[in-house]
Amino acid sequence: MSKPSERWNTAVIGSGFIGRAWAISFARAGSPVRLWDQAEGAAQKALDYIAGVLDDLDRNDLLNGDKPATVLARITPAQTMEEALALATYVQENTPEVLATKIKVFEALDKASRPDAILASSTSALLPSRFTEGLKGRARCVVVHPINPPYLIPAAEVVPAPWTSAETMEHTRQFLIAAGHAPLVMKKELDGFIMNRMQGALLEEAFRLVADGYASVEDIDIGIRDGLALRWSFMGPFETIDLNAPGGVRDYAERYQGIYENLFPQMQRRVDWVGPVMDEIEPERRKRTPATQLQERQMWRDKRLMALAAHKKRAAKEIGN
Ligand SMILES: NC(=O)c1ccc[n+]([C@@H]2O[C@H](COP(=O)([O-])OP(=O)(O)OC[C@H]3O[C@@H](n4cnc5c(N)ncnc54)[C@H](O)[C@@H]3O)[C@@H](O)[C@H]2O)c1
Repeated sequence: MSKPSERWNTAVIGSGFIGRAWAISFARAGSPVRLWDQAEGAAQKALDYIAGVLDDLDRNDLLNGDKPATVLARITPAQTMEEALALATYVQENTPEVLATKIKVFEALDKASRPDAILASSTSALLPSRFTEGLKGRARCVVVHPINPPYLIPAAEVVPAPWTSAETMEHTRQFLIAAGHAPLVMKKELDGFIMNRMQGALLEEAFRLVADGYASVEDIDIGIRDGLALRWSFMGPFETIDLNAPGGVRDYAERYQGIYENLFPQMQRRVDWVGPVMDEIEPERRKRTPATQLQERQMWRDKRLMALAAHKKRAAKEIGN
C-alpha cells in the first residue's frame, strides 16, 4: 500500500543533528529524501548515524512496518545543492542558527529549487521575515521548527512570515501530517514561537525558585518528571484544566484563577541564568550526571523517548486519543 507522503519528494539541506533526524522522519513516512551538506563527507556520515537509529526504531516497532534497509534506501546523499533540489517539492533547511547563513542559504534555495517547492527552515528562534523578505519566492517560505529529535517527537511549529501564502501554510500542514507529525500552525510570527515561550515561562520560574532558596534542582525536576509531565505527555495545559473542575475550563478558571493571579506579581523578576544561581545548579547536576557521562545519558534519554513513543502509539490504539 502506498504511504501518504510518497506524493512528496523531499530535500534536506544541512545534515547535522536536526537535518539527519528530519531525514529519518520523512523517509520513514515513504518520501524519497536527498540529503546535502556543504561540509565534505557530512551527508555520508549522517547516513551511517541514521542506519544505527533505524535499527533502534525497528526494535520499538516505530518504522510503520517497514524494514530499516527499506527506509534507509529512500535517503540518498547529493553531491551538490542543485542535485538535492532537482525533484524536491518540500525542502527542509537545517544549517547553523546564524542569520547571515540563513539569508545566504535561502537565496540559494529560492534560485535552485523547483518554483512550486515549499522552502521550510528548522530555525529555533529566527523569525522567517528576517531571512526571506527579499526573495522572489518568499510566499513559499515558512519556518517548520521541530523538537529534537523530530523522528520521536511529532510536534512541529509552522510559522509564517507576513508574506507566506495561505497555500504554503496548508500544504506544509498536510505534508507534516502525512509524515506522521503533529503541526502547530501559528497565525503570525512571534519571538520564541509557541513552544519556547511555554518552556521559557517554566524555566524562568525554575531558576527563580532555586535562586531564591525555595527548592533544590532535583526537587524541581521531580515536580515535573514525576508530577505535571505525566499528564502533559498526553494532554496539554488547556485540556488538563478542562478536566480538573466539574464544570470544565470555565469552572476551573473561576475557582482557581485567584491562586495564579496572586503568583503573577512574584514572577516578574528575572534571574541571570549564568549568575550565582548557576554555582548551585551546575554542581547539583554534575553530582547526579558527571560531565563524562553526559553523552551516555543523552543516549539513555533517546531510548526512553523511543519507549514512550511506542507506548503512546499503543495506548492511542487501545484507549483512544
Ligand atoms: N539541535 C537542536 O536541538 C535543534 C532543535 C530545533 C531546531 N534546531 C535548528 O536546526 C538548525 C540546525 O541545527 P543543528 O543542531 O542540526 O546544527 P548542526 O551544527 O548539528 O548542523 C548544521 C549542519 O549544517 C551544515 N552547514 C553549514 N553551513 C551550511 C550551508 N551553507 N549549506 C549546507 N549545509 C551547511 C554543517 O556542516 C552541519 O552539518 C538550526 O537552525 C537550529 O537552531 C536545532
